[in-house]
Amino acid sequence: MTKITIEGNNLLSGEIKISGAKNSAVALIPAAVLSKEKSVIYNIPEIRDIEYLIKIMELLDCKIEYKNNALYIDSSNLKNKAIPEELSVQMRASYYFMGALLAKFGRVEMSFPGGCNIGARPIDIHVKGFQQLGAKVEIIKNRYIITADKLIGKKIYFDFPSVGATINIMLAATGAEGTTIIENAAMEPEIVNVASFLINMGVKIRGAGTKKIEIEGTKELNNGVCEVFSDRIECGTYIIIGALLGKNLTIKGVIKEHLEAFLMKLKEVGVKYCIKGDTLTISKTENLKPTYIKTLVFPGFPTDLQQPFTTLLTQANGKSIVEETIYENRFKNTYDLNRMGAITNIISLNKLEVNGPRKLHGTNVIATDLRGGASLLIAALVAEGITEIDNSDVILRGYSEVIRKLENVGAKIKITE
Ligand code: UD1
Repeated sequence: MTKITIEGNNLLSGEIKISGAKNSAVALIPAAVLSKEKSVIYNIPEIRDIEYLIKIMELLDCKIEYKNNALYIDSSNLKNKAIPEELSVQMRASYYFMGALLAKFGRVEMSFPGGCNIGARPIDIHVKGFQQLGAKVEIIKNRYIITADKLIGKKIYFDFPSVGATINIMLAATGAEGTTIIENAAMEPEIVNVASFLINMGVKIRGAGTKKIEIEGTKELNNGVCEVFSDRIECGTYIIIGALLGKNLTIKGVIKEHLEAFLMKLKEVGVKYCIKGDTLTISKTENLKPTYIKTLVFPGFPTDLQQPFTTLLTQANGKSIVEETIYENRFKNTYDLNRMGAITNIISLNKLEVNGPRKLHGTNVIATDLRGGASLLIAALVAEGITEIDNSDVILRGYSEVIRKLENVGAKIKITE
């Protein structure tokens, strides 16, 4: 088990460069199986999920080369093989092979995907979408066998604008005859990133980033090139760290349009920062104000920044309320936050009360999920004394080179296996 140890309460200065977005990269790699032969994806983050996706790509006989944060993928010998459970459960994003392989071969066999345990996370919207395109979906003991002699473009309405389902149906629709229209699609930047890659391969897609996306199926796709957008969640996490501990901390690779709701909330709690181009400079804010945050689909406040933001609110002057509307079980980090000295109470199924400001102190904690782990990591940086975060593998699933980046700006942090 991986453990991160932090001696807290040090001001941080210098520069942190944001890596490519986890949630884009994990969709772009499966999407690469659609290209004719070769594709290149630039700005790949160094995270554990990517290592497992590469294993799946190699299982499917893709040749992969990783150089200077770029992934060179040759899928000219691509074979359609069943994806075993030990690989698919390593992450949520393995489900993108469903849409991609269905479009390419008309058949996919794989186990239910994994991911953080933050709620039920069914994939019924994906399945219904595949069925509406004409696929047959059999589920045998957690194993999905999805087949289609022919996929036919349809108008599909999503009951909820799911990020995963939007991308998965976009991938499947590339192999359908005619036009697929997704109504009530998710609008997250990751969808635009994947759509740009597919457009680069020659697929006609209109409306990615809006509620209505149109995809025209294409017989043969070209080679594809794309660059992963910078990670808005990683960026938000370091901005929070800067608001708590920065001393002219500079964060490079900020796309402020991807973080509007988050930046508005930061202003509300009194955090000041300066943005020039893609560079944000931030210093520790005294006298933070309490606030109310409610997680929503993009462009609302992102659920993936809810847990990191909760740690910020433990330092605000008064009572804040956090309402989580996307997942049913995303307050698990508060158990250990309280053990570090925070006062948070779950006041109803999806509402948390945070009382501050509280002095945090180091202790032994356990990261239960990726962003919950990030919330504890921020708390550990703020706390007096030493914090040991067990099960830190989950943090490495989503934060590229986190130890090096924090060490470089002055954090006392180490990792042990
Ligand atoms: C993606 C992100 C995750 C982020 C989430 C919301 C990846 C790999 N993960 O997850 O970091 O927290 O978007 O921004 O990109 N739902 C259903 N049925 C479905 C699909 C989803 O009920 O078929 C529900 C989920 O249980 C959840 C909500 O819809 O409560 C949002 O899920 P979705 O947008 O699909 O998130 P993911 O793609 O799993």
